[in-house]
Amino acid sequence: MNFKLTEEQLAVRDAARDFAKTELLPGVIERDTHQKFPLDQVKKMGELGFMGMMTDPKYNGGGMDTISYVLAMEEISKIDASASVCMSVNNSLVCWGLEKYGTEEQKEKYLKRLATGEIIGAFCLSEPEAGSDATSQSTTAEDKGDYYLLNGTKNWITNGSNAGVYIVIAQTYPEKKHKGINALIVERGLDGFVVGKKEDKMGIRGSDTHSLMFQDVKVPKENRIGEDGFGFTFAMNTLNGGRIGIASQALGIASGAYELALQYSKERSAFGKKISNHQAIQFKLADMAMEIEAARLMCLKAAYTKDEGEDFSMEAAMAKLFASEVAQRVTTEAVQIHGGYGYVKEFHVERLMRDAKITQIYEGTSEIQRIVISRTLLK
Ligand code: CAA
Repeated sequence: MNFKLTEEQLAVRDAARDFAKTELLPGVIERDTHQKFPLDQVKKMGELGFMGMMTDPKYNGGGMDTISYVLAMEEISKIDASASVCMSVNNSLVCWGLEKYGTEEQKEKYLKRLATGEIIGAFCLSEPEAGSDATSQSTTAEDKGDYYLLNGTKNWITNGSNAGVYIVIAQTYPEKKHKGINALIVERGLDGFVVGKKEDKMGIRGSDTHSLMFQDVKVPKENRIGEDGFGFTFAMNTLNGGRIGIASQALGIASGAYELALQYSKERSAFGKKISNHQAIQFKLADMAMEIEAARLMCLKAAYTKDEGEDFSMEAAMAKLFASEVAQRVTTEAVQIHGGYGYVKEFHVERLMRDAKITQIYEGTSEIQRIVISRTLLK
């Protein structure tokens, strides 16, 4: 077993760290306050290769491994989790799914532009009545010969108003339940496709989360991904990789908060000495660092398993479940170490604490991760 990162992986991590500090840090508080999507920053992420990291270079991607993706996600999430969720959805749920299951024409037409960040992708599974219970899709894609007639509403869609391409999961044969579901590529601007209200969220406020409405939208047949009825399997397989992205986001939120708390503890004095010299603070820092290290190893193990071509669904669910819980504990302790300063925006840790919560909810709640893990154990 070798824990050493390669020169290339280290270079990716350093490039992501530099980018986050120079391009994402300025303005991150303002974007959070005003719910401003980091559009310019995402464009630059595309130019630097962060939007299609694992995509084959023949489709304009970076051709990197999943370990590099975890390293970059951690660095970007330390500073701006709103930018990193956009990156994670584009890389894991859209580019990866299209490359693995799409046709050559779909890859030429969509993947090449998604991998460079020229357009951003969105993944549309959740509905008002179907979040965790993803098999209960109410959105319908009626087979009309050479096109599907799409009707329904999707909720909580990341990149909702900024995406150019949406992968929409919809029911074609209700009697077949989840085996009758399809995944369709829907271009923005099609007649009957309406971007609905923007959610006013507790955290990741720079990310644009919207509901989407489809009213008799005609989607060409050639935009279906995979065989007829493959949509649910597509969604599940894609989400397994997505969970590595969100686990790494949770890891980054935790390690970002920890680094701020560590630094602050060396600067702030109380009772005649730096607070880092108080054992109460030292013990907190030790626990935070230990939990972050465990979460990081779990993210890297899930990434390694995926890169080896093995079934990684359990590893991904374990990494996401653990890292998202670590993010709750570590960000709360980081605020505590900062005392009153931790409760104001200027010091960043209150935002990281708010951002941490979503990692226990999207791409499957903690309860869903436990379902995925226990099913593998009991198989
Ligand atoms: N990987 C691969 N296949 C899986 C899977 C996984 N992790 N989990 C389930 N499946 C397969 C099952 O093997 C089964 O396939 P077969 O019928 O061929 O055997 C099929 O899916 C249905 O599974 P179940 O019969 O067990 O269905 P269920 O309803 O009891 O449970 C579930 C399914 C695991 C709970 C699933 O609905 C699920 O994962 N729900 C959570 C969905 C989710 O993560 N939503 C997030 C929205 S996307 C998002 O958040 C993106 C964003 O914007 C950031």
